[in-house]
Amino acid sequence: MHRNSDGPRHVPVLLHRADEILGPALHADGAVYLDCTLGLGGHAEHFLRTYPNIRLVGLDRDTTALKLAGERLEPFKDRITLVHTRYDGIADALEEAGLPAKSSVSAILMDLGVSSMQLDEADRGFAYSIDAPLDMRMDPSTGPTAADVLNTYSHGELARVLKVYGEERFAGKIAAEVVRRRQRTPFVTSAQLVELLYDAIPAATRRTGGHPAKRSFQALRVEVNRELESLEAALPAAFDSLVPGGRIVVMSYQSLEDRVVKAEFVQRSASRTPIDLPYELPGMGPEFKVLTRGAEKATEQEIEENPRATPVRMRAAERIAGEEKQ
Ligand SMILES: C[S@@+](CC[C@H](N)C(=O)[O-])C[C@H]1O[C@@H](n2cnc3c(N)ncnc32)[C@H](O)[C@@H]1O
Repeated sequence: MHRNSDGPRHVPVLLHRADEILGPALHADGAVYLDCTLGLGGHAEHFLRTYPNIRLVGLDRDTTALKLAGERLEPFKDRITLVHTRYDGIADALEEAGLPAKSSVSAILMDLGVSSMQLDEADRGFAYSIDAPLDMRMDPSTGPTAADVLNTYSHGELARVLKVYGEERFAGKIAAEVVRRRQRTPFVTSAQLVELLYDAIPAATRRTGGHPAKRSFQALRVEVNRELESLEAALPAAFDSLVPGGRIVVMSYQSLEDRVVKAEFVQRSASRTPIDLPYELPGMGPEFKVLTRGAEKATEQEIEENPRATPVRMRAAERIAGEEKQ
């Protein structure tokens, strides 16, 4: 089931660069490394091995990922706390690990999106290339599936999801076709949706726009998992949890995510002095310094070795002011 678990598709993305940025924050004894997207624990294993004095608090909403990461990180079991939660549950997860929600973490990694394990597991319905139940839940224990979205949303809601989260030009037309077809046969499998998309998207566009199912599958995944809401709620909590000198790295794989990340980075690195004052108020300077110039991409060599790194956009920041460690 977990194919390629040692293969090149599971190489952690931008590992060397993440270490270059987060490493300097991880030298203190007992420094806390918060991995908000543990996945198969590739990044986490590297940091636990490289920095023998750190503690890991690892989060994932997917219990299968947590179980597999737990097995992989067994050699470090005295230094790790794994928590099943969405990453906007950072404050509670830190509490579970016996840490305050504010100013207790030295380094944070958010490696967003789905893992290659989730894509590989045919029955979870993330991959449009495999006929499977239309599920797409990262946490299969809760919430509506992609089939529920297709079978219950109104035309307007469906069109919005496809347009906003998939940037799909033919959102209205696809939504109309979904509503028409589901009256006869409710959506159950990914093949039904793929067939509809082949019919609804003009052949001429298909030649330039990539696989016709790519954008709609992305849109459904974002909706089913409430990905953007979760990210918008998690980022402030993540920034607040850092100690002075603490660092955060966020890796996004699609422009909508990166837009949300960029907005938080811009806001956190701006002065908090009212703009109409000609001087900086004491204690109201920026809380964070951005460590990356724009969004960094993977090098051509890394993309060649690890194609999953192709769309990655990485941003990083360091806390330069704020509460002292409690
Ligand atoms: C790209 S993978 C992480 C891979 C990991 N860095 C590694 O080296 O193995 C992303 C992981 O984040 C999890 N995830 C995505 N959105 C999440 C959320 N809102 N809350 C918690 N976990 C989430 C997914 O379940 C998946 O396991």
